[in-house]
Amino acid sequence: MINKCLFPAAGYGTRFLPATKATPKEMLPILTKPLIQYGVEEAVEAGITTMAIVSGRGKRAIEDHFDISYELEHQIKGGSKEELLDEIRSLIEKCTFSYTRQIEMKGLGHAILTGETLIGNEPFAVVLADDLCQNDEAGVLEQMKKVYEKYQCSVVAIEEVPMDETQKYGVIAGKLVDGTEDTYRVSDMVEKPEPKDAPTNLAIIGRYILTPDIFDILRNTKAGKGGEIQITDALLEQAKQGRVIAYKFKGKRFDCGSVDGFVEATNWFYDRMKS
Ligand code: G1P
Repeated sequence: MINKCLFPAAGYGTRFLPATKATPKEMLPILTKPLIQYGVEEAVEAGITTMAIVSGRGKRAIEDHFDISYELEHQIKGGSKEELLDEIRSLIEKCTFSYTRQIEMKGLGHAILTGETLIGNEPFAVVLADDLCQNDEAGVLEQMKKVYEKYQCSVVAIEEVPMDETQKYGVIAGKLVDGTEDTYRVSDMVEKPEPKDAPTNLAIIGRYILTPDIFDILRNTKAGKGGEIQITDALLEQAKQGRVIAYKFKGKRFDCGSVDGFVEATNWFYDRMKS
C-alpha cells in the first residue's frame, strides 16, 4: 500500500522571479488554484491522504494554504463566495500535512532524503508540483500505484520528448515488459544528458513511487549533474538490480516550471472551464 506522498517544495523557483521572490513557486496559480493543490488532489484521487512536504525558508504560505483561515472563513460565511473554498476545505478534512525543512539546496535526491523523517520505512509517492498532470480518467499517480502493486518496485513516470530536449530531464533506457506497450524494465538512467549522450528520448517527469531502500542509497549517493545529489543516480542503483519500472502514463503533462508550460497550462484549463 502507498499511504504517503512526498512533495519536494524547497526550491527557489528562480525562473519565475520576481514572482517567486516572496511567494513559493508551488503557490503560483493555474486559474484560481495553486500548483501544489493540483498535486495534492492527484494524490487523494490515488487514495493517498498523508502529505509530507519538504519545504524551506520563505515557504510559509504552503502551510497556511492547507489550514483553516478563521478570519477569512468567518468573513465570507453564508455569502456567494463561500463555495470557492469548498475544494480546499474538503482536502484539509481528508488529509494530514506534515512538514520538514531542507536547510541547504543540494538537489532533488537530497530533498527526498530530507523527507525520510516524514516517510519512514514504507514505499511512498513523490510529486514535483511544477509538473502538472491531467487525465480525465485515472490520474497519473493512480495509474502508477497499479503498476507498483503489480511489480512491487520503484516506478517512474515517463513521456517521449523531442530528442533536442533530453538535457532538461532524467532519461531512461530499458526494455518493454512482455505483453505491454507502456511499461519498461529500466536498465540505464542518466540525468540531463546532452542529446548525443542520451540513450533514448524517454524522459522522467515529476512522479515517482519509491521503495524505502532508496534512502540508504541516497545517503551514499555522491553529487552528480550540477554538483547536486540526483534521485536519478540513486534510482540507477535499483535499476541495476532490475528494480525500477518506467511507465508511460496516460494523460497530459504541463511543465509549469517554465513560463511557456505555465501559460500553456493556464490556457488549457481556461478553455476547458469555458467550454
Ligand atoms: C527533476 C529531475 C529530472 C526529472 C525532472 C522532471 O529535474 O532531476 O530527472 O526529469 O525533475 O520534471 P528538475 O526539473 O527539478 O531540474
